[in-house]
Amino acid sequence: MSTQYTNILTSRPEPGVALITLNRPKALNALSSLLLNELSQALKEFDRDPQVGAIVVTGSEKVFAAGVDIKELTNIQYADMIKGHWLGKDWPDLTRIQKPIIAAVSGFAIGGGCELAMMCDIILASPTAKFGQPEIELGVIPGGGATQRLTHAIGKSRAMEIILTGRHFSAEEAEKWGLISRVVGDGEGVVVKDAVEMAKTIASKGQISVQAAKETVNAAYELSLAEGLRLERRLFHGLFATQDQKEGMAAFTEKRKAVFTHL
Ligand code: HXC
Repeated sequence: MSTQYTNILTSRPEPGVALITLNRPKALNALSSLLLNELSQALKEFDRDPQVGAIVVTGSEKVFAAGVDIKELTNIQYADMIKGHWLGKDWPDLTRIQKPIIAAVSGFAIGGGCELAMMCDIILASPTAKFGQPEIELGVIPGGGATQRLTHAIGKSRAMEIILTGRHFSAEEAEKWGLISRVVGDGEGVVVKDAVEMAKTIASKGQISVQAAKETVNAAYELSLAEGLRLERRLFHGLFATQDQKEGMAAFTEKRKAVFTHL
């Protein structure tokens, strides 16, 4: 039986697909300790589950997430943070998930909400999506990765503008700047439907090669070109030890659809 959560909803809308819906509507899905804890638990649970090939994270029509819960940060002290006694403690855990995660964003993805979306592997957005890093208004700077991930994604000048002015930017800008994969069609639930469809496609592939692909693409953000190419080459070699490679290539030759066993 799957775990019961209070600040998120979980479901399996299609074979191979897990859906996590952030669900604190009154606080605009502000990322509280409890919500982050549940999100991290659910992601780990789905990462371990052999029936799941890809995960979609979404919010509501109005909001993906309006950042971390400011009410939990207001009176926190530097010493507490250094000692890890604050809600950001487990934040890096979210990047340790091996399966692909798609963010389906409608409405506000602000502060930690935007950073959470950027920690996912693919971002799809509805035309209503609004992104932003308004921490400067709070007398701080982004703390969940935006100074690095946003800059890598959209370039220094735009990242500086967004982080120093705190202004929101639209789904259209996010698409034009390369932050997101694409803006999907208008209408309630369309972005989640499209993300689930994409996750279903990914889940139908061999999971070992999918995870290797995720690892190598992410390495492009951390390693030098030479190191990244070496990692890619080694993982490419390694995939020839899998049954999925034998099946995938045999299926091509025999002009049939591959049946991957993830072995
Ligand atoms: C706690 C929040 C919240 C947040 C909204 N609420 N954002 N509570 N933390 N981040 C609450 C409001 O207090 C209010 O509660 C209710 O949600 C509705 O919000 P409104 O402001 O009335 O809604 P609206 O006018 O539609 O404006 C939406 C908004 C605005 C533009 C998204 O709420 C906003 O700017 N929120 C703060 C965004 C922000 O600064 N995020 C960065 C946080 S710092 P009540 O009880 O009054 O109804 C951060 C650092 C990350 O994320 C570090 C990671 C490790």
